Amino acid sequence: MSPLSRRWIYVAIVYFCLAVGLGVFMGLSGDHRLMAVHAHMNLLGWVTLTLVGVIYHYFPKAAASRLASVQFWLHNLFLPVMMISLALVLTGTPQAGPILGSTAVVMLLAVLLFAGNVLWRRA
Ligand code: HEM
Ligand code: HEM
Repeated sequence: MSPLSRRWIYVAIVYFCLAVGLGVFMGLSGDHRLMAVHAHMNLLGWVTLTLVGVIYHYFPKAAASRLASVQFWLHNLFLPVMMISLALVLTGTPQAGPILGSTAVVMLLAVLLFAGNVLWRRA
């Protein structure tokens, strides 16, 4: 497996631990306000990062491109900011809304880079 695929999967595992930790906290405390943070740390973190890592394994040309590296950094620098601002909005700090919105757009950009990279460099 390429070092890039491994990197995606290592980060995915960190999200898995954090997201399940938050799930257990929500279950035990009965405070489900952060459900959307838990859901997206699991789905945009653990599940998406694992899938991207595995997909890059099968698309080595795409994995070797500069776009893949740009996508990695966009996804992994902005997802934590998106999750923190989502948590702030959900717990009563609506001022974090614009940061949440902008980081969501950056995540969309990272997803589009991934789509373009894999579709153009499939082989
Ligand atoms: C020990 C592990 C986990 C615990 C204790 C846990 C706990 C919870 C809790 C308490 C909720 C809130 C339910 C509600 O308020 O209706 C929730 C929602 C959710 N969880 Fe987890 N969770 C766990 C693992 C996972 C995993 C591994 C995933 C995905 C890969 C996941 C995805 C979701 C999603 C998508 C929701 C939102 C469901 C909805 O829209 O109603 N959870 N979880
Ligand atoms: C930038 C990317 C994304 C944005 C901006 C986004 C945004 C949203 C929004 C606004 C909601 C409604 C939340 C609510 O009603 O409280 C939602 C719910 C949900 N999304 Fe996403 N989403 C993204 C990516 C994803 C991905 C990649 C997945 C799955 C692989 C996913 C799965 C879900 C699920 C299961 C729910 C229902 C659980 C919940 O309410 O938290 N989302 N998302």
